[in-house]
Amino acid sequence: MEGYRLNPLLSRKQIASIVKGLAEQISKDYGQRELILICILRGAFMFLSDLIRHLKMPVQVDFVRLASYGTGMKTSGRIEITKDIETPVEGRDVLIIEDIIDSGRTLQFLKDRLALSKPNSVKICALLDKKARREVEVEADYLGKEIDDIFVVGYGIDFNEAYRNLPEIYYITPIDRQRE
Ligand code: IMP
Ligand code: MG
Repeated sequence: MEGYRLNPLLSRKQIASIVKGLAEQISKDYGQRELILICILRGAFMFLSDLIRHLKMPVQVDFVRLASYGTGMKTSGRIEITKDIETPVEGRDVLIIEDIIDSGRTLQFLKDRLALSKPNSVKICALLDKKARREVEVEADYLGKEIDDIFVVGYGIDFNEAYRNLPEIYYITPIDRQRE
């Protein structure tokens, strides 16, 4: 995309070590209890696929798609389910897998909605967290890394659907043409 610069934030190695650390915490807490991982599409698909390889307990995987970002960098605040989970979660231990927590509205919406199905527990595992931008009270039970208020891409995370395939994580800054 023109007019933007990609600045390195997390290397493959750094991501791998964060993901492994998270998986270790999760494995320690849940032991051999069966976990239902609910991955929020699309941004968290790569995170899920790496995380799950380190988990030793029996797991099931399902996906939900929640549209909150229209296009670009601004959230609309309104959340819609465009693809629901298909796995019954009543009485089960559920772990939501999310790429980034920003305002917190997406996770609050999903947590509240899952609670209606009476799971045994619902926890959140997020790779990145922009804590300073929080608008509602939601915290990750397992958090990879807190970041500043920057717009990131790569490792599954997009900007207008681009850059998901990058194996590293970058933050985007506009190129100031006057200074170049
Ligand atoms: P929230 O509902 O405001 O917490 O928004 C969370 C969602 O916004 C995440 O699932 C991401 O899809 C998206 N998002 C937030 N920050 C970024 C970013 O820096 N890059 C790309 N997507 C982002
Ligand atoms: Mg997302």
